[in-house]
Amino acid sequence: MENKIKVLTIFGTRPEAIKMAPLITEIEKNSEYFESIVCVTAQHRQMLDQVLHLFNIKPDYDLDIMKNNQNLWSLTSDVLLKTKDVIEKVNPDVVLVHGDTTTSMAAALSAFYAKIPVGHVEAGLRTFNKYYPFPEEINRVFADSICTYHFAPTDESCENLIKSQIPEEHIYKTGNTVIDALLYTVKNIDESKYNFNLNPNLKTILLTSHRRENFGEPIKNICKACLELAEKNKDIQIVYPVHPNPNVKEPVYELLGGKDRINLIQPLEYEEFCALMKMSHIILTDSGGVQEEAPSLGKPVLVLRDTTERPEAVKYGTVKLVGTDKDKIVSNVQLLLDDETEYKRMSESVNPYGDGLASKRIVEVLKKVK
Ligand code: UD1
Ligand code: UDP
Repeated sequence: MENKIKVLTIFGTRPEAIKMAPLITEIEKNSEYFESIVCVTAQHRQMLDQVLHLFNIKPDYDLDIMKNNQNLWSLTSDVLLKTKDVIEKVNPDVVLVHGDTTTSMAAALSAFYAKIPVGHVEAGLRTFNKYYPFPEEINRVFADSICTYHFAPTDESCENLIKSQIPEEHIYKTGNTVIDALLYTVKNIDESKYNFNLNPNLKTILLTSHRRENFGEPIKNICKACLELAEKNKDIQIVYPVHPNPNVKEPVYELLGGKDRINLIQPLEYEEFCALMKMSHIILTDSGGVQEEAPSLGKPVLVLRDTTERPEAVKYGTVKLVGTDKDKIVSNVQLLLDDETEYKRMSESVNPYGDGLASKRIVEVLKKVK
């Protein structure tokens, strides 16, 4: 193609990188149509670099904005100001952002100010509660209101966009690119390479938690539930790759550090984390991405939140919302440990989020951008 379509992809955190990686690969495979430019804000530094390394992505621009214990105000203004320069220099035909982080919201706004059309990957997720998750619900509503191309993963997310008055002709149901990343990664995993210092004779419970609305008492309740479960069940071990946010790391190490059969570890590279999900018996999480991945690996997921913008696997019964009350977490895990029928019911493999072809569908839409 003589006049190639210039696509500027902007992302900054671990989950955005994992979910954008297969799309960047697909855009770059179609180099006769596209000129691909990648800009990372590095809202996350170390956790972003892990993904860039794994998927061999070499950004054209690295804004390197992460500060220790950063706040939403400075983060938003840094993304807005620093992406301005990149957008003006590149002058792309379309900017792509992902999901609901502050990077996505502020980069979409930045492109809008430059009157560049924006494509939103993972559009249309909603809880319809502005503080849950915070600030993600408003970030995605805001991004959706700015974007021209809405790449929605499921029927539910398409319906949410229609309810939000987004014109139907701008909505594309594509599946979620997380499944593209997951299927590609698990295909290449050699699980025997990993042991994470786990005892193969014990059942592994994998925990991840990082949400802002769980800071303070909720995260302490989650830790106390783990202590009680490990104390009651000598045949389990809990493994927790701890998110580096100081609001998570400090209370978690204080309450769970050095405890018997509770293994606190550094955030894992995506491939290692997929191996760990596969090796686990039960997954406890407040993560969005893990809620989407674990059901297709046939792992029961207990979600440490009261609401979710990912209701699909809850409907299938493989994901259950348990909130952050200590006793409720303990009783739900105990039920899965004690009741084989319930465990079997929740560990059926379902995959409502995609078929591994989302990036290809998005690229077909992008081919028509100009
Ligand atoms: C961010 C996103 C959240 C997403 C999550 C995924 C916002 C407001 N929040 O939350 O939507 O679910 O990422 O993990 O966009 N840190 C490091 N190294 C890293 C990453 C983070 O040290 O590689 C520490 C830093 O002290 C940093 C802090 O964690 O200031 C918080 O990072 P931030 O991106 O603001 O919030 P998250 O809780 O990671
Ligand atoms: N993940 C990872 N290493 C870890 C923990 C999680 O690679 O130690 C992956 C996980 O498989 C998922 C993504 O990170 O794809 C989720 O990121 P996170 O929970 O930080 O963010 P969220 O999805 O909640 O926005």
